[in-house]
Amino acid sequence: MYIAGVLTLLAGLAMSLNYAGQMPPGKGFTIAHSAGTEATVTKDSTLNGTYHSNFTRLQAQRIQPLPLKIVNNFDAGPINAYIQGLDSQGAVVFITANGSLIYPSSHGSQLPRKIEHELAIPLPGKGKSLDIKIPIPLSSGRVYFCQGNLSFFMLDTGHGDGLVQPSVTNVDDPSASLHWGFIELTYTAAGTVYANISYVDFVGLILSMILSTKDDPSKPQITRGLRADAVQALCDGLRNQTNVDGHSWLGLCVVDENGRPIRVLSPNYYHRLHESAFEDYWNSYVERVWRHYSYKPLTINTQTPAGPITCRVIHDILRCLNDTRGYPRPLATDIWGCDSGPFGRVNGDNDIHIAVIPRLCAAFVRSTLLIPGGDVQPSLNSSHHYTVSPTHHYSRLVHELQIDGRGYAFSYDDVNPDGTEDASGLVSSGNPDTLTVYVGSPPTD
Ligand SMILES: *[C@@H]1O[C@H](CO)[C@@H](O)[C@H](O)[C@H]1NC(C)=O
Ligand SMILES: *[C@@H]1O[C@H](CO)[C@@H](O)[C@H](O)[C@H]1NC(C)=O
Ligand SMILES: *[C@@H]1O[C@H](CO)[C@@H](O)[C@H](O)[C@H]1NC(C)=O
Ligand SMILES: *[C@@H]1O[C@H](CO)[C@@H](O)[C@H](O)[C@H]1NC(C)=O
Ligand SMILES: *[C@@H]1O[C@H](CO)[C@@H](O)[C@H](O)[C@H]1NC(C)=O
Ligand SMILES: *[C@@H]1O[C@H](CO)[C@@H](O)[C@H](O)[C@H]1NC(C)=O
Ligand SMILES: *[C@@H]1O[C@H](CO)[C@@H](O)[C@H](O)[C@H]1NC(C)=O
Ligand SMILES: *[C@@H]1O[C@H](CO)[C@@H](O)[C@H](O)[C@H]1NC(C)=O
Repeated sequence: MYIAGVLTLLAGLAMSLNYAGQMPPGKGFTIAHSAGTEATVTKDSTLNGTYHSNFTRLQAQRIQPLPLKIVNNFDAGPINAYIQGLDSQGAVVFITANGSLIYPSSHGSQLPRKIEHELAIPLPGKGKSLDIKIPIPLSSGRVYFCQGNLSFFMLDTGHGDGLVQPSVTNVDDPSASLHWGFIELTYTAAGTVYANISYVDFVGLILSMILSTKDDPSKPQITRGLRADAVQALCDGLRNQTNVDGHSWLGLCVVDENGRPIRVLSPNYYHRLHESAFEDYWNSYVERVWRHYSYKPLTINTQTPAGPITCRVIHDILRCLNDTRGYPRPLATDIWGCDSGPFGRVNGDNDIHIAVIPRLCAAFVRSTLLIPGGDVQPSLNSSHHYTVSPTHHYSRLVHELQIDGRGYAFSYDDVNPDGTEDASGLVSSGNPDTLTVYVGSPPTD
């Protein structure tokens, strides 16, 4: 599938940006080309909507609008915003600068068909802001920001009109070489807003948020996220890591045709482009963990009424007391995604199993299983994470570059000893005043 497309792994391309040293073949960064004109459907890029008619459009439920303020802090403009989601009837909808609604149609096409409507909301220049109102309930919403024009497509899924979104793992995606990012947004019919920033899949255009509420106007919720130069700094850190261990870390760094870093893929996403990368990365660590816990107990604090439970490797399977199933050895891809192999869920898993999955995967990602205190999970705070190799260096670097420690770098980043630390990039309120999004660099006050 993923051969010769928009994203090509090139070795040793040098010069244009400090990447002077020759990288060994297969260890270079990833170059995004702008040749693609067609979207292809990948599992992470389709938003399945219902069919809509003029009836749905007229019936679109109006509610107390959510004020959305966008502050342009980006050094190299111009920037476009795009607001999309599903309306209360599940139809794909875009919202324009004046709050009007655009319902794009697939026109029955079973192949992605580019949306011709003008969806872009051009932002005013650096230092200026734009006020928009979200007039309808919106689920699976996203507010995209892009230096340039993002391309969105519609297709008839057989069940409805689906939106094909820009994808960072789609080699043919026309937006591949652009610098873009998004926040996720849900605004319910009851007027509750949930908005979040995540680095689980990739780090792109730098975004931060402040949600002010009517309940407590003096205490806005802030997700500052990553510092303004985080993409460049991540690429530098990944290059360093490649120099240290010889693995393809630098490949996670995606540069445009001018050699400018535009985004960094998580290893989980990178793996979709290069299945053999990192294949053996965790093997020796898993081997040592399995050996260690074949003669010593591993305690997992389920942080549920079941309390701490004891686990042990028996006949090469990690088994926990009163758990419905055991855990075979994880592969690299299981550790990157935390949702396959031993970390996949099946019907019938009991509460203990469901509690062990995130805690065990987080312990691998953070490489805390063989350090002092690691025989109780979770028990070590963030100062003990990522201290030994191998580890999840993308997650390590993302956390090093976060201003306020907020924004997940892997899907179970909320696992922590006391269960209270909030590492998610989520802001939410049932009584929102204004959601402000900062593009390019976080608010400084
Ligand atoms: C919706 O209304 C427009 C303009 O009134 C009309 O051209 C179009 O055919 C209608 N579409 C549907 C699906 O009814
Ligand atoms: C709102 O904006 C859309 C597209 O940007 C435009 O077609 C429409 O006429 C505008 N509506 C009003 C009331 O200004
Ligand atoms: C983006 O789209 C706008 C409106 O369609 C167009 O004027 C502009 O030239 C496009 N910009 C780029 C970089 O293609
Ligand atoms: C969306 O629709 C496509 C095509 O019908 C399907 O393959 C995919 O599983 C659906 N995704 C979700 C999340 O339902
Ligand atoms: C982030 O927001 C999206 C959209 O509202 C939601 O689907 C997702 O579960 C949220 N993630 C977290 C960690 O809150
Ligand atoms: C990368 O390594 C260089 C040289 O050892 C060092 O100066 C720099 O701080 C490192 N950068 C990161 C982001 O780790
Ligand atoms: C395991 O389950 C048994 C029977 O349901 C129960 O009596 C026992 O307390 C449980 N042990 C632990 C450690 O949860
Ligand atoms: C983390 O735990 C160590 C002890 O293991 C403690 O000294 C340190 O203060 C803790 N750090 C934080 C941020 O809680």
